[in-house]
Amino acid sequence: MQAAANKFQEYLGTEPTVIHPEYKPVEGGASMKALAWFGPKDVRMVTAPIPDITEPDDVILQVTGTTICGSDLHLYHGEIMALQKGDILGHEFMGKVFKVGSNVKNLEPGQRVVSSFQIACGKCTYCRENLSSFCDRTNNSSLQNYMYGQRDAGFFGYSHFTGGFPGGQAEYVRVPIGNVNLLPIPDSVPDEKAIYLSDVLPTSYHTVVDTGVKPGDVVGIWGLGPIGQCAARWALLKGASRVIGIDRIPSRLHFAESKSGIETIDFSQYSNVTKRIYELCPKGLDVALDCGTFHEPKTITHKIQKTLMLETDVPETINEMIVSVRKTGRCGIIAAYAGYANAVNVGALMEKGVRLIGNGQAPVIKYWEEILNEYLIPGKFDPTFMITHRVPIDDLAKLYPAFDNRVDGVEKVFIETQFSSAPSSGCPPTSRVDDWFSI
Ligand SMILES: NC(=O)c1ccc[n+]([C@@H]2O[C@H](COP(=O)([O-])OP(=O)(O)OC[C@H]3O[C@@H](n4cnc5c(N)ncnc54)[C@H](O)[C@@H]3O)[C@@H](O)[C@H]2O)c1
Ligand SMILES: [Zn+2]
Ligand SMILES: [Zn+2]
Repeated sequence: MQAAANKFQEYLGTEPTVIHPEYKPVEGGASMKALAWFGPKDVRMVTAPIPDITEPDDVILQVTGTTICGSDLHLYHGEIMALQKGDILGHEFMGKVFKVGSNVKNLEPGQRVVSSFQIACGKCTYCRENLSSFCDRTNNSSLQNYMYGQRDAGFFGYSHFTGGFPGGQAEYVRVPIGNVNLLPIPDSVPDEKAIYLSDVLPTSYHTVVDTGVKPGDVVGIWGLGPIGQCAARWALLKGASRVIGIDRIPSRLHFAESKSGIETIDFSQYSNVTKRIYELCPKGLDVALDCGTFHEPKTITHKIQKTLMLETDVPETINEMIVSVRKTGRCGIIAAYAGYANAVNVGALMEKGVRLIGNGQAPVIKYWEEILNEYLIPGKFDPTFMITHRVPIDDLAKLYPAFDNRVDGVEKVFIETQFSSAPSSGCPPTSRVDDWFSI
């Protein structure tokens, strides 16, 4: 799939952008540790050149914290198009400003900043509304334009389908248009709280807000990875009367029940999820949120269709959501999807007047200041609840399979580099991925 996608993209040429993904290496050939993709289930630690200022709006960061996201697992499985061997992954990271380009006036070396996972130009129609993930001018992917009619912003470390920008699972990163895509962090907020402003916090907040969770709503959440766990808390903060989380991983079900006090459904036990939902709430859900993953079909029919490439994505969760919500209920899709799914229950969607909302890639810049100032600083939302592990960057290649298999109760991981501070009090100490398997 990758070879065909890359070839087709080459044939189509590139779309015009105001920035470019290739970076200039620092003079003298200094190198850094980074995690790169080489094929499905083949990621490796590599030595890569340290990036230098390449365009005048660039900022170079020394990474003080990075992490792995459920979206990285789609890359790990080769489910996202236009990956190339040697691509540096990682889109959720923070750091210290190391160097600034001549156009960057609002940041200076030494400042602590979080990076948005998407790269916004700050000037297009979408950026002017803070819809940073929909920026028109930073992703050169003609393939995405061909498939979707338009294209997202460029993303860090997320294949050439989103611009081919080297990512933040590395010791240094080049952040294009740094004055737009970096948020300064006050000293009172430690790295373990700040880093997730890069993705998981705005993303989970966005699905709750964009799908319109209101006081009194009964909310169902498919998938209890970090996005689902945070969405459950946001839904409660927005006044949901009940939240029901659906997953099959025992540690994740237990985590959601014990840490956030929500109800759960284990879909390995209740194969008919919608029937179970109606047993728990006979009127149906008001809101359903898809925080799962499109590459894990659970029915034999979709396993076969996906293997035969008759569909790229599976509709199982979408169908369960459409059937489980009440008439005129709302369904939000924040889980990433890539292409086509067969047998969507379009009849139930239409007849019940269901609002099915593609939440899109979350516009980080729209929410990050609000989350920082109104929730993190006053202590109304403490993201450290989801951090189960901290590991050194050297363990990243081993972390991919461990996170993929949800080993040792892993939820969210903080990955440290040589530039990180010591763990904050109450946060996990450094461990090695090898040790997780022996526990
Ligand atoms: N739109 C965005 O901006 C954005 C940003 C970040 C992540 N995401 C996406 O959000 C999703 C969740 O991310 P995460 O980091 O929590 O991932 P994760 O892989 O850690 O968690 C996904 C969870 O979904 C569960 N799951 C799989 N199939 C299911 C099913 N049929 N029903 C119920 N649960 C099921 C898995 O067991 C797992 O616990 C991913 O698809 C990711 O790509 C989207
Ligand atoms: Zn992500
Ligand atoms: Zn823009």
